[in-house]
Amino acid sequence: MTAIAVLGSTNMDLVAYVARAPERGETVTGTEFRTIPGGKGANQAIAAARAGGDVLMIGAVGDDAYGVRLRAELEHAGVETDLLHTAEGPSGTAHIVVDDTGGNAIVVIPGANGTVHTLGPGEMAAIAEADLLLLQLELPLSAVVEGARMAHAQGVRTILTPSPVQPLPDELFGNVDLLIPNEHEAAALSGKTEPHAAAEILLRHVPEVVITLGSKGCLYAARGSETVHFPAPEVTAVDTTGAGDTFVGALAVALGEGRAVPEALAWASIAAALCVQKPGASTSMPYRSEIDAA
Ligand code: RIB
Repeated sequence: MTAIAVLGSTNMDLVAYVARAPERGETVTGTEFRTIPGGKGANQAIAAARAGGDVLMIGAVGDDAYGVRLRAELEHAGVETDLLHTAEGPSGTAHIVVDDTGGNAIVVIPGANGTVHTLGPGEMAAIAEADLLLLQLELPLSAVVEGARMAHAQGVRTILTPSPVQPLPDELFGNVDLLIPNEHEAAALSGKTEPHAAAEILLRHVPEVVITLGSKGCLYAARGSETVHFPAPEVTAVDTTGAGDTFVGALAVALGEGRAVPEALAWASIAAALCVQKPGASTSMPYRSEIDAA
């Protein structure tokens, strides 16, 4: 089994389902409200565990009822939570509006995630022992940089989802093996809106890039080889929340198992396509048997 460490966030997702998201200053009536465990880190951890990885989560929940539920959800998925600390104060929350195209808009309040500024010896040792480290940007950048540096120094492959997007220091870029932005993040980081052009710029910073393109699939670019577009399975989306995280979690497992990049990307795309057909983030992530069957 691939040993995957995830250094990242846990959020309780507070999700309002509406036909159409409100304009500024407008009030609309929605159809449903749900609280669903999420957070980019926890989502990737759960996706990887369900896809067959041996997963460990590093981060923090708050000492509130959301924290108890977030930890329980991870443990239920088989994710090791010994290094998921309980911080004083509220857990992270994500305030999400999902419209009837399945698209979403998200505001994240970091809560306990914002307390993870630095890593202790236990976290460092766990990262050093992993095959892969998954990182996103919902923890303080200082911890993300420290984790990436440690992993890189130990020969642990690092995969960064640069979300929520922000300017990245060379110190972080230099320790990332595979960068997985979506179209918007790729444009923000590269200054280029066209994905091929964005990938070309990003390859100056990291050796491999996958730009996720939603229903259009993804673009894979690596230094010294031709950039390739991989289509996504055609499905009807109900809720796209967590689809990118599902893709990353499944891709990490497939790459960790030594599968070739095209096969790994196709498998991860199927996982993401299964995710968008159900509501919620962690609630909609497929199990390995479902990905294989699809
Ligand atoms: O990527 C989806 C996630 O982003 C949601 O689960 C929400 O918590 C935000 O972090």
